[in-house]
Amino acid sequence: MTTRLLINGRARDVDVEPHRTLLEVLRDTLGIFDAKEGCNEGVCGACTVLLDGRPVSSCLVLAVATRGKPITTVRGLERDGDLHPLQDAFLRHGAVQCGFCTPGMLLTAYAFVEAHPHPDRAAIREALEGNLCRCTGYTKIVDAVEDYARNRCG
Ligand code: FES
Ligand code: FES
Repeated sequence: MTTRLLINGRARDVDVEPHRTLLEVLRDTLGIFDAKEGCNEGVCGACTVLLDGRPVSSCLVLAVATRGKPITTVRGLERDGDLHPLQDAFLRHGAVQCGFCTPGMLLTAYAFVEAHPHPDRAAIREALEGNLCRCTGYTKIVDAVEDYARNRCG
């Protein structure tokens, strides 16, 4: 069936089989590789996108169920072609190594800080529990999110 997906502010009409996940449609049908394919069973967080502003594992969401709802991938964070301040904080703090977890990590952190503008480190760690990183040991990621939240609010 033809389904209209709203991806990073752009409408895309795609022919979608009802059993296809959003992750499959993004990557295999639309060639949007922002969301990474890790475990494919809702554990690693690599496939995280924002659906209506909330983080979801796109490997667990049927694409047809997202019809008409805004979907944000990591590319949707950029501002006028520049990195989002959260992305900038990740770079400054060395919170990116192989980068596989980074799109999902950024989107989860972004949504969390939107909802919790003054988080402490424990809350940041808890918010990122569903996003696994094999490389960084998490400390630099928490540093980056904390720095971003602090500077965002002035
Ligand atoms: S690929 Fe979706 S949670 Fe791991
Ligand atoms: S930077 Fe490699 S998995 Fe997180």
